[in-house]
Amino acid sequence: MKRVIAIYPGTFDPPTNGHLDLIQRGAKIFDELVVAILRNSEKVPLFSVDERLEMLRDCTQGWKNVRVESFGGLLVDFARNSGAQAVLRGIRAVSDYEYELQMAWMNRKLDPSLETVFMMPAGAYSYLSSRLVREIASLGGALEDFVPASVESRLRARLGTVPRSSK
Ligand code: PNS
Repeated sequence: MKRVIAIYPGTFDPPTNGHLDLIQRGAKIFDELVVAILRNSEKVPLFSVDERLEMLRDCTQGWKNVRVESFGGLLVDFARNSGAQAVLRGIRAVSDYEYELQMAWMNRKLDPSLETVFMMPAGAYSYLSSRLVREIASLGGALEDFVPASVESRLRARLGTVPRSSK
């Protein structure tokens, strides 16, 4: 029987509960899900690729059909080399749609055999982003609803802020 492999690519700086929600949903519908961290991003990251690999591997170890890797170059090339048929991306709100649609069209142009599949995270994560998590962390705000505890402690260690609970 044909196994469907999907790539879930991103920057994941840092991984959030929204990313994990999407990974959980993707792991349910694909036989294999490869979470792929972009290595040569134009963005200056807070965490190195190795740190993000560690964080994501730690958070996803419960899902046996999920693995975490990093990639450089074109996503379509990484997908082809991984034997993947699909790219998974999350859409939180209409504002995500334009950017996502442009990427999906471009990836289709580059490799028409690769399908992009959009999924919505839980509503509670519709306003969550890595950028806002970094900002809240740097200002000492509560993070427990937004990232796993292991990611929160790395953020506190990196940014030197004291833990605070919203509860
Ligand atoms: O989490 P992000 O930053 O929105 O993820 C963006 C990502 C990594 C999916 C995108 O930048 C990407 O796929 N980069 C790889 C280079 C590439 O293939 N570019 C053309 C895609 S249209």
